Amino acid sequence: MATSISFDQHHPRGSWRRFEALQDAPLIEIATLESAQQRQAGLLAGLLQPAAAIDPKFFYDAQGCALYGAICQLQEYYPTRTEAAIFERYRDQIAAQLPGRCLWVDLGCGDGAKSWPWLETVDAAGYMGVDIAQDWLAHTLQVGAERFPAIAFSGVVTDFSQTLLLQPVLSGWLEQPPVLFYPGSSIGNFAPAQALALLRAMRQHLGPHGRLLIGVDALKDEATLRAAYDDALGVTAAFNRNVLRVVNRELGCHFEPTDFSHRAHFNAKASRIEMRLVARRPVTVQLAGTMRHFAKGDAIVTEHCYKFTPERFETLLTVAGFGEIQRWSDDRGHYSVFVAATGRAQT
Ligand code: AVI
Repeated sequence: MATSISFDQHHPRGSWRRFEALQDAPLIEIATLESAQQRQAGLLAGLLQPAAAIDPKFFYDAQGCALYGAICQLQEYYPTRTEAAIFERYRDQIAAQLPGRCLWVDLGCGDGAKSWPWLETVDAAGYMGVDIAQDWLAHTLQVGAERFPAIAFSGVVTDFSQTLLLQPVLSGWLEQPPVLFYPGSSIGNFAPAQALALLRAMRQHLGPHGRLLIGVDALKDEATLRAAYDDALGVTAAFNRNVLRVVNRELGCHFEPTDFSHRAHFNAKASRIEMRLVARRPVTVQLAGTMRHFAKGDAIVTEHCYKFTPERFETLLTVAGFGEIQRWSDDRGHYSVFVAATGRAQT
């Protein structure tokens, strides 16, 4: 039996909705901080500005998720397997730093696969999956609840790239310190100020005994970085171009993805890969009544992927108010995993 209860709560910009897909199914809360109109207005504004840009959150429709899954399997895309190897090698050491009877909060949980081995190792009383995709989340919770019957499964549908606001749901777990699990170096897709704001928000969720467990990709030689974002099979190119199909659906416009080439440029000064779609010929697209012209060679920025030296990320954590910072890396120093607790906030 499906039930859906709406109630306004806690945040002037959003509403919370309680949703139970099936009787006895894990509870899912829905925190909508941005309406469809606001989302589309933001997308349109990005495309109409002189330096056109698309927020990377638009990558992840069903096709984009499948392509991202394929990217993670690529030889050139080292972050996924390097992180997995660090987790595998140091899991017991890392788990020893995490609180007992914790609430495992899986930020951007996807299919939950990265969390399952942790739930076999840590002492978790609850699992909270957080994701923007409700159908996926419901499935993940179902799978997890069957696999770990002793752990209480729940979920939150929200876009925490806008605002991380889990206090309303965490208030039901006051006795269980949260472990905020944020793997995959997704923190690298935020601009520095946004990354700091997100880390600060994470810290505010921790309480005295909670911990952040986060994976971060390291700065390294340009050839390795560029190959990771411009693979020989063209999977990343397909992932990048697919965003134009999403834009067409969102805005009812008519970009032709093959009119654009994929580019992955390394900006050494900013320490980031810049993913772009570059017009292969002059292109004009009608966007909500405005004709947007792209000359041949004009670019749409689709994603920035920041890379951090371990020292730089540790500083960022400290500025965000974390303390007791510990790090584990692979032998080549290509990737790092950090555990951090609440420290003293800096301004
Ligand atoms: C999701 N995120 C961490 C990926 C990254 O490496 O920045 C997204 C991605 N874009 C192209 N390849 C992978």
